[in-house]
Amino acid sequence: MAVMVTLALMASPTGAQDAPAGASLAVRWCMACHIVGPNQSTATDNAPSFREIAARPGTTAGSLDRYLSIGHTLMPDFQLSAQERNALVTYILSLR
Ligand code: HEC
Repeated sequence: MAVMVTLALMASPTGAQDAPAGASLAVRWCMACHIVGPNQSTATDNAPSFREIAARPGTTAGSLDRYLSIGHTLMPDFQLSAQERNALVTYILSLR
């Protein structure tokens, strides 16, 4: 059963499944520095939490996607695929 669910998630086009996919990417790659969800209490001091980022008036899907597309001095260059960026952006905006 679990296998079928996993396959269904992988096969689904971008859309409703993006937030959960983004959440697992965030746990894997982002939570060392950012507070990525409600069950996490500690991260680094200098990185804003994803909820904080989502709450900023200037934050849009476009601004997040642009941020994640370019290299950063303080953030490692993850070489995210467009699909992974999309999933992360959807997840971050879902925290609003
Ligand atoms: C090595 C620590 C580190 C990791 C890992 C990391 N970040 Fe960051 N991130 C930072 C820091 C520090 C900042 C704030 C300074 C800056 O803008 O570079 C930041 C800023 C951001 C911002 C911009 C916030 C703003 O100012 O608008 C976004 C969006 C973001 N991170 C997303 C992510 C995502 C998504 C991941 C996982 C794929 C991730 N970060 C992983 C350290 C990290």
